Amino acid sequence: MSVPVIAIDGPSASGKGTVAKRVAQALGFHYLESGALYRLVALASLRTGLAPDDAAGLARLAETLDVRFSGDSVVLDGEDVSLALYDERCGERASRVAQHPAVRSALLARQRGFRRPPGLVADGRDMGSVVFPDAALKVFLTASADERARRRYNQLKQKGIHANLRALSRDLAARDARDTARAVAPLKRAADARALECSSLPVDAVVETVLNWWRAGQRGASG
Ligand code: C5P
Repeated sequence: MSVPVIAIDGPSASGKGTVAKRVAQALGFHYLESGALYRLVALASLRTGLAPDDAAGLARLAETLDVRFSGDSVVLDGEDVSLALYDERCGERASRVAQHPAVRSALLARQRGFRRPPGLVADGRDMGSVVFPDAALKVFLTASADERARRRYNQLKQKGIHANLRALSRDLAARDARDTARAVAPLKRAADARALECSSLPVDAVVETVLNWWRAGQRGASG
């Protein structure tokens, strides 16, 4: 039997990372934050001065990234880049880098490599539509633009990164527009994904809903 996957997709700062991590913890599953891979390619390209339209160069970078995920830390070429990765400049560059089909396919095998027993919870934009189309449960999380900007602002503040709410809100909107409009793997709810609007839901309730869907699916599969 193949290793089960729960795919959690949605726009920037919809809360998918927090929810996915908590669901993975509750089930003892592995966790993949696919956005971190795009951010890593972005960071490496910023550092090496690679242009955001150099698709071949970026794809090579994506293939050869020397990265290690250890607990909450992300280590690139032996350096802990956990903080730099969540800088908004890096997020903005990530959404440009992610437009190139060659970069996306270079990251495909790396993402699928996270699928190990007993299971995987993966979050991103195309987990259910492209990377794990056979996921046992697909969830599409949304939240209002204001709520998402507020969440990202608090997230950054918690990490000690200075941010401006108005600028953040504008950047998120631009990033979502680019992610939704791109030709390859656009941000879009998969036909078989369950939608969950979580602007006014506490994170515990969102986690519980996803876990209930998962348990109900398991009962359905074994019954
Ligand atoms: O999820 P996060 O905001 O960290 O992702 C950064 C960028 O990486 C997104 O704006 C998106 O363009 C890209 N991304 C993607 N596909 C994924 C995850 C992230 O295109 N599965």
